[in-house]
Amino acid sequence: MFEVLCAVLILAVQASTLRDDGCTITEFEQIEDIVSSCSDIFVDDLVVPGGETLNLTLKQGASATIRGQITFGYTEWGGPLVQISGSGITVTGETDNVLDGQGQLYWDGLGEWGVLKPNFFNIQADANSLIQGLYVLDCPLHCVVIANSSDVTLKDWSINNAAGDRDVAPLNKYSLNTDGFDIWNSTNVVIRDMVVFNQDDCVSVRSGSNVLVDNVFCHGSKGISISVGFSNDSIESNTLENVTFTNSVVVGGWNAIHIRTHADSGEGIINNVTYENIVFSGLQEYGINIQQNYVDVPENSTSNPSPRDNIPITNLIFNNITGTVVPQAVPVYINCADGACSDWHWHGVTVGGTEAMNSCNYLPEGFQC
Ligand SMILES: *[C@@H]1O[C@H](CO)[C@@H](O)[C@H](O)[C@H]1NC(C)=O
Ligand SMILES: *[C@@H]1O[C@H](CO)[C@@H](O)[C@H](O)[C@H]1NC(C)=O
Ligand SMILES: *[C@@H]1O[C@H](CO)[C@@H](O)[C@H](O)[C@H]1NC(C)=O
Ligand SMILES: *[C@@H]1O[C@H](CO)[C@@H](O)[C@H](O)[C@H]1NC(C)=O
Ligand SMILES: *[C@@H]1O[C@H](CO)[C@@H](O)[C@H](O)[C@H]1NC(C)=O
Ligand SMILES: *[C@@H]1O[C@H](CO)[C@@H](O)[C@H](O)[C@H]1NC(C)=O
Ligand SMILES: *[C@@H]1O[C@H](CO)[C@@H](O)[C@H](O)[C@H]1NC(C)=O
Ligand SMILES: *[C@@H]1O[C@H](CO)[C@@H](O)[C@H](O)[C@H]1NC(C)=O
Repeated sequence: MFEVLCAVLILAVQASTLRDDGCTITEFEQIEDIVSSCSDIFVDDLVVPGGETLNLTLKQGASATIRGQITFGYTEWGGPLVQISGSGITVTGETDNVLDGQGQLYWDGLGEWGVLKPNFFNIQADANSLIQGLYVLDCPLHCVVIANSSDVTLKDWSINNAAGDRDVAPLNKYSLNTDGFDIWNSTNVVIRDMVVFNQDDCVSVRSGSNVLVDNVFCHGSKGISISVGFSNDSIESNTLENVTFTNSVVVGGWNAIHIRTHADSGEGIINNVTYENIVFSGLQEYGINIQQNYVDVPENSTSNPSPRDNIPITNLIFNNITGTVVPQAVPVYINCADGACSDWHWHGVTVGGTEAMNSCNYLPEGFQC
């Protein structure tokens, strides 16, 4: 009798916490209705079936709070696993939230060249939107893509893809192309107070303007990067202006700073980029790598076209950039096309840890190559 009573009580309590105001998502099927009707949403311990998106396309000014464990089922598809869209929206991860992409089920050591893998987050937000406090575990491919956005701040995220590191994952099951934050065609974007363990660019800014990246810790990455030239015909898509990276730390991985223009792209420009107060250690290939001959090819295949002047890099400021690379790595590499690099001002740039030589075919003011 007592047990029955207890069971009834527990059911009653559960029902009352679940009932709340009808704005808590605990089942995948609830998402569409709740997102379209509520302005203050909770997402609580959810399983998202493979091949489906947790689509938080929120009403104007709405907020969503992510709690508990959100797990995404396995399916070979392009994603995204999570869509966050809206104007003036706030998305907050509560303490102990985990979004688990189950990347280890996809990783095959081939990244975007292997089985089809979903991107994790796609974000399109504006009008002072804020997305904060999310804990992202095991991205199958790119972790966070921000595109077509303006006036948006992302802060206090952790991206933990450490299980995909080559020396941690099972043989040939490591991960590649797990960019932390990719920013496309966006303006007035702030990325701050992030911790990223991954295997490709920690942050990669591709097009747009007025982007600030502040206080990011990167581990195992290909660096805090700029990568411009993804279009053959749109100058706008190949244009990046007014970007600042500050107060950040890069530990291990391929490059600390990587700026690249794509040799197989149409025309554009990179103008007014500042890196300031960056420290790094233990880089495996380059400390600072700036190249105007980049081509995206599978791992270990070589492509070294001559640098091209399709995307000039002007007004590149480096201030107080210090760090170390491993003994065989190149400290500073600059490969510009004739006349396509100008007005670079570098002060307090020192890279140690190696006897290897710098290699520069353009000399920034204030730097001894
Ligand atoms: C998310 O929902 C919005 C609004 O219903 C829809 O337009 C959009 O295509 C959906 N996106 C994804 C990735 O499912
Ligand atoms: C950004 O907008 C362009 C043009 O509408 C569209 O083709 C592209 O898919 C959008 N990007 C993302 C990641 O949503
Ligand atoms: C850039 O984003 C804006 C929305 O902010 C969109 O209207 C435009 O089509 C996008 N351009 C490209 C090249 O994707
Ligand atoms: C531009 O066109 C060339 C030749 O068709 C192609 O090889 C290359 O991949 C294209 N580049 C981009 C960025 O789409
Ligand atoms: C870059 O910043 C300058 C100075 O604030 C501003 O005048 C310019 O419009 C910005 N460029 C873009 C593309 O927003
Ligand atoms: C360069 O970009 C920064 C933001 O990163 C901005 O504050 C500054 O005004 C820009 N300078 C010029 C000359 O546009
Ligand atoms: C240089 O950058 C480091 C790392 O961000 C910082 O601790 C130091 O205070 C900076 N030095 C100066 C002179 O600003
Ligand atoms: C690339 O080379 C490394 C080191 O030799 C090797 O471990 C890795 O399996 C290779 N990757 C591919 C995709 O061949």
